[in-house]
Parts: sequence; C-alpha cells; structure tokens
Amino acid sequence: MSGSEIQAGEAALQFARGEMPVLVSIEEEFASSRPLAGARIAGCLHLTKETGVLIELLHACGADIAWTGGDEVSTQDEIAAALRGRGIAIYGKRGMTTDEVEAEIGATFAHHEGGPTIIIDNGARLIKMAIEAPEACPALVFATEKTTEGCAELREISHADPLRLPVFLVNDVTTKWEVDNTYGTGQSTIDGIIRATGKLLAGKAFLVCGYGHVGRGVAMRAAGQGARVMVCCRTAATAIRATLDGFQVLPLEDAIARADILCTATGRPDIVRAEHLALAKDGITLANTGHSVTEIDVTALERVARDTTDLTGLIRRYTMADGRKIHLLGRGGLINLAAATGNPSEVMDVTFANQALSVLQAAARPSLSPGIYEVSEEQDESVAIRKLIAMNVRCDARMPEAGGMA
Ligand code: ADE
Repeated sequence: MSGSEIQAGEAALQFARGEMPVLVSIEEEFASSRPLAGARIAGCLHLTKETGVLIELLHACGADIAWTGGDEVSTQDEIAAALRGRGIAIYGKRGMTTDEVEAEIGATFAHHEGGPTIIIDNGARLIKMAIEAPEACPALVFATEKTTEGCAELREISHADPLRLPVFLVNDVTTKWEVDNTYGTGQSTIDGIIRATGKLLAGKAFLVCGYGHVGRGVAMRAAGQGARVMVCCRTAATAIRATLDGFQVLPLEDAIARADILCTATGRPDIVRAEHLALAKDGITLANTGHSVTEIDVTALERVARDTTDLTGLIRRYTMADGRKIHLLGRGGLINLAAATGNPSEVMDVTFANQALSVLQAAARPSLSPGIYEVSEEQDESVAIRKLIAMNVRCDARMPEAGGMA
C-alpha cells in the first residue's frame, strides 16, 4: 500500500463525495449520534469510489467494517488503499481468480470475532453463508441485498424454507430500477465497451440480450451512439416493449449471425452457448453486463476455439475451427466495472442513499422478525426528492424545501 496509491484513493473519494450529495447529507444528518456504534458490518459489494463513500458513511456512524468487492475485476485498488489507511478491513484486490474471490468473501464473513451483526450484500453470497452457518454469526441482526438476481434467489429460498434472518431487499425500488439500472448501467456498459475496444458504434449491429431495466438502458445508449440495435427477449411482454421502443426483436440464433457487438444483460447463466457461438458473425465482440459472470459460456468458447490469444488485458481473441474470430471482453465479467469505473457516482448516490437509510432504520428498530423486508415507497420517494433538490429540479411531488408546486 503505497503513499501515492492512498493519495489517489483519497482524491477519488473526495471527488465522488461531491457527486453524491444525498448520501453525504444522510451522513451529516446521522453521524453525530453514532447510530451504528457497536455494529460489526460484513460487506460484499464492488469496491468502487462510490461504495467507498457508502463505507465512509457507515464508518462515520460508528460501525466496525470488513469489506470485499466480491468479484474478479471491480475492486479499485487505490480506494482499497485509502480505506485501509483509515482502519477499515478491506479484503481482495483487482484481478483475482475466482477461487481467490471466494476466499476473500469467506475471510470477510469470518473477520469479526463473534461474527457480523449486519451484512451488506450484492449477490447474496454472504447471506447464504449466514443461512448455511448460523453458528458463525449468532449476533446477526439483519442483512441487505442489492441485486435483482440476489433478491430473486432470496425470495425463492424463502418460499421453500422461511428465512431465519431479516433481509432488506434494497434492489426492488423504483429509483434503483429506473435510475441506476437503466441510466447508470446503460451508460457505463457502453463506456466499458468503448474503453476496452475503442470501437465506433455508429452503424454497427449491436445486439442486447435481455430487456429488463439494464438491457433497456444499454439498448437506448447504443442507439444514441448510432448503432442499429437488435434485442433478444425471453418473455413476450419484454419483446413487445422492446418492439414499441423501436428496436428489432428476434431470436438469438438469427441475431448473433448479424451482430457486430453482443452484450448480455439478463442476470441469468448460459445465455450465449456453444450452439450460438457456432452461428456468430466473424469478428463479433462479446461483452456481459448482467450480474452473472456465466451469461456467456466461456468454457464452451475455450472448448470450441482452435486458438486463443490475449490481444490486450481486456480483449481475448478466439479463433474457431472454421477461421471465424470471436472477441471476448473482460473474461465475460461485468464490462462496466472491468473496463470502466462502474455506474456514475450521481446514480449510485440514489441507490446507496436507499441502502444507507435501510441500514440506519433497521438498526434503530428494537427487534426485527426474520423474513423479507421491502423498502417502502415513502422512503424511495424521499430519496428521489432529496436527489431532485440536489439537482435543482422542481416538480409536482411534495418537496419540503421547495414548498411543493401548485
Ligand atoms: N455497480 C455498478 N456500478 C457500481 C459502482 N460504481 N459502485 C458500486 N457498485 C456498482
């Protein structure tokens, strides 16, 4: 951990704080009463400068924190260095193997004597550890989960067997879907693809697999760059929406044969499989921005390729038996975090504000029954209002500072 790395991390955190006025206002409101004093937090969420600002808030509120980024590519080492410099236990680094990632998640879970009292999760991995080994966290009070897939998995688990701990699903709020997923991931995904390849998008056939909030954002932004956008959908309802948004909807087998760039955004595994790779257009670029690293079947790609060459740290070229070339970006991991710096601070401000308020409110409750908790519409609306005020936008919602509009 060098002095210049810490300095770079401090500067990045300072910049992000300036872009995250809602989160900073929550810190200013709560920190002096130290509502998290005595709390032991285990966090597993991409260690970016924005997450750093969230960690600063939790730390200022009195929590003792152990944190890991939870994947191979997203940890920003200078942010890790700056936070370590302030006495926060940070596990992992950029460019880990999958086994190393798992080991760091385990170490984060096991960091505190007596186990964590609060878990902050992004993919439900720490939460599943707590479910499987309750004896390792006997004082656990509650957990939060931030991803669409993690929330879906926890709902499924809770249907089969009631959860033995309270879990707040901080993903399922309008601002996260509409602001973070659509506009944040939409922009950062295109940013990642361009940073990795420098490709011109204008005139390219750009295929988006999945048309949830993320897929929609990616499609909109690719179209904004002048690409001809095609969309593959699993449900008829999303196919109608994509069609009415002006995109060409077609089956993956047909689309992949025409696509210059393909980006998965489904959050489910095994979307692009060997049978699709056999049909892919020569020279295609493959990227993933869904939560699951397994959306593109990289194992199948390795198996069917005649030759594999790393052209850069972010572009691996596979040559097929028939001579076609396929370029995989960022090893099939999240391209917005592997090649760019994740979603912009301004949108993470909203998501992390909801996350911080959920943690602070849950910590203030005298007792919580096990089970699933949703973020209330009122809380989401209050975060949106804080953001609008910060953006100097007035609307017809009741806005305390503006006094409402007639
Ligand atoms: N997920 C996507 N972008 C992110 C960011 N900037 N910080 C944390 N998690 C993210």
